[in-house]
Amino acid sequence: MNANLTAILYLVAAAAFIVGLKRLGSPKTARSGNSVGAAGMLLAVIVTMVNLEGVSWWLIIAGLAIGSAIGAVLALRVQMTAMPQLVAAFNGFGGIASALVAGAAFVTVSGAELASETILTMLLSVAIGTMTFTGSFIAYAKLQGIMGGSPMTYPGQRAVNAVIGAILLALLIWAQISQDGIPFWLVGVAGLILGVLTVVPIGGADMPVVIALLNSMSGLAAAATGFVISNTALIIGGALVGASGLILTALMCEAMNRTIWNVLFGAFGGDGSGAAAGAGGNAISTTPDDVAIALAYAQQVVIVPGYGLAVAQAQHALRALTADLEKRGVKVAYGIHPVAGRMPGHMNVLLAEADVPYDHLLDLDDANTTLGRTDVVLVVGANDVVNPSARDDSTSPIYGMPILEVDNANLCVVIKRSLSPGFAGLDNPLFYMNTTRMLFADAKKAMTDLGKALESI
Ligand code: TAP
Repeated sequence: MNANLTAILYLVAAAAFIVGLKRLGSPKTARSGNSVGAAGMLLAVIVTMVNLEGVSWWLIIAGLAIGSAIGAVLALRVQMTAMPQLVAAFNGFGGIASALVAGAAFVTVSGAELASETILTMLLSVAIGTMTFTGSFIAYAKLQGIMGGSPMTYPGQRAVNAVIGAILLALLIWAQISQDGIPFWLVGVAGLILGVLTVVPIGGADMPVVIALLNSMSGLAAAATGFVISNTALIIGGALVGASGLILTALMCEAMNRTIWNVLFGAFGGDGSGAAAGAGGNAISTTPDDVAIALAYAQQVVIVPGYGLAVAQAQHALRALTADLEKRGVKVAYGIHPVAGRMPGHMNVLLAEADVPYDHLLDLDDANTTLGRTDVVLVVGANDVVNPSARDDSTSPIYGMPILEVDNANLCVVIKRSLSPGFAGLDNPLFYMNTTRMLFADAKKAMTDLGKALESI
């Protein structure tokens, strides 16, 4: 294909990536944004394939077929709650693909003197790609429960990691200067080891942030590989993934009031089994009938969804309940915490699935203003994001994390199955407050029971 036409088509693909990303910023345009981005990627793949020389088409078609089949099966079968693991696996595959392409390019030009920027980009691609590969699969194993979610630490761990990091740097310099195969491949080995050692001490509670960071790294590895094989679309696509992953990491850290340093080296949180359930006093339990009466006579109700809503897949039953309340003239709003659930936008996606109007969703600040004049707040499967310790207890590990102040409402009903802690593994004083009532049940069953109880009022 003519070089100018190739450049123009790559530019169109890059524009599609940017428009797609922009449209992902709002739930209303996100679906079309996804399609625009995917169309851009398809165009970039086709242009790249047309320009390929000396490669068997059958090999490419076989690779495409196998890769697409695995991707389609995974995407169709994955539960919404397991989406972070899927993203982790994709990041890992992206990282190793970049490293392999750079490695293959190194083998192809073996013996020839390389420009210093060429060998540098190859080395960066291999180092970042291999670290991303093993780091992502450790993150996957922690989230999937294959490995324990608690931070795995040992004395001198940071020193060991620092030494391996220094060895990786020394290998990079050696390979850059000598252009020799031995240090080149050792960079890959050190990257693989460092990926494991860096993620192992990070607690399961921080895995979504780590995954966003690894996502950014997979983008950087792809961008470096783009320079190696002179592919503009790969450079732009990789840079966009790198930048957006980094921005997402920063936003998630901000929403949890943590620094990235603290996430990576703080060995915070566990797998949710740490705190003693009920350690904070006596909780008052309630029944669906009592809650239905409070809801039916309320003027303003706020729903605070959390991870448990996703586990129970209770979004449709919740929507049926709130539609009934709205018919009765009750004002219903939804308070959305930015890190409720297990991935960015988790609650927005769930509620959109159940056709909850987007303008009924309140962000943290608006929700907190509304909660001060709310009659009943229903906390559905949320825990950490409504834990008042984050506001009141300076010794709490989550102190400073912004929360939804559900304890400011006249009545707070918490729907969950037990007094067990949330993802951060901390007990929640909210459960023992005078204005709180616990409705112990699976979220979906609770929604159905509340709906039935409401019918008889
Ligand atoms: P969590 O604090 O994890 O609490 C969820 C609660 O849901 C649990 O206490 C559990 O209690 C309950 N639950 C589980 N299954 C249920 C079911 N079938 N029916 C009813 N309840 C059920 O959730 P959250 O408040 O949404 O907070 C999210 C956490 O993830 C935060 O710690 C946040 O920092 C962390 N995190 C999130 C993100 C993103 S981007 N979302 C990123 C990093 C970290 P029972 O077992 O008693 O039912």
